[in-house]
Amino acid sequence: MRNFDENSITQAVLDRVARASDARTRQVSQALVRHLHAFVKEVEPSMQEWEAAIGFLTQTGQMCDDKRQEFILLSDTLGVSMLVDAINHRDMAGATDTTVLGPFYVQNPAVFPLGSDISDGMKGQPLFVSGTVASTDGTPLAGAAVDVWHSDGDGYYDVQQMEELGGLSMRARLLTDADGRFHFWTIKPAAYPIPHDGPVGKMLEAQGRHPYRPAHVHFMIHAEGHDTLVTHVFIAGDDYLDSDVVFGVKDSLIRELVPHPPGEAPDGRLMGRDYHSLAYDFRLKRPSASAA
Ligand code: BEZ
Ligand code: FE
Repeated sequence: MRNFDENSITQAVLDRVARASDARTRQVSQALVRHLHAFVKEVEPSMQEWEAAIGFLTQTGQMCDDKRQEFILLSDTLGVSMLVDAINHRDMAGATDTTVLGPFYVQNPAVFPLGSDISDGMKGQPLFVSGTVASTDGTPLAGAAVDVWHSDGDGYYDVQQMEELGGLSMRARLLTDADGRFHFWTIKPAAYPIPHDGPVGKMLEAQGRHPYRPAHVHFMIHAEGHDTLVTHVFIAGDDYLDSDVVFGVKDSLIRELVPHPPGEAPDGRLMGRDYHSLAYDFRLKRPSASAA
């Protein structure tokens, strides 16, 4: 076959990829060709625009290293990460909603005893975080690993200021007690812009979008016999709840920060200054029969 034109080339490519012996590869390749060709036929790029598109993808790749993943940021900001998350969590059956992981998770964080201050003395407004972890039927999950991480009061994560801090902070693993409870002290996180000094930042600017995420605390919870939960708790009232740059906000994940005057805190600690508290009860589901 030769002499393809804009009317015949799509079918020719589809016929070619139809030879893939693996059924899933065949399905994905055919869908890719159909949608990509439909996109190009709709947009009708000039040769300069096509070169700019290749340049954008090249820069996106060149921006990636072991600390920066610009392609995931592209997926996040185009709503693809949350779409994939939604497709993979259709049947939550009473479990806590999921949201994006984000780039600032560090595997195997240090284990802190319940009640610890995980902020390592960083300056900021004190925050008491507490909650429970249970199965969807209400059974408390003892010994669940609750990984938490969040930004500081200026909107920066520890990994973005390693030179100044000299180590990790505002992140920990806590193990739930016999009743599935956990609590810890930290500082109040703030809304922040995602890394926007690369091609994704340029894309956001060109699209007339801001790069901000509303203030939140990240959680990743592992409990035996249950699906790992990746989620955040968002702080009620944040200006960016309705325009999160990565489309990650769900109503069920928003909680009020409760203000407290100085005095005895819920864990018995004597607080000499004002503080806030934030609470969330997480529900984890068992793997569905098809996934098990
Ligand atoms: C975050 O919440 O840490 C995050 C999520 C997606 C992109 C960038 C940051
Ligand atoms: Fe975050």
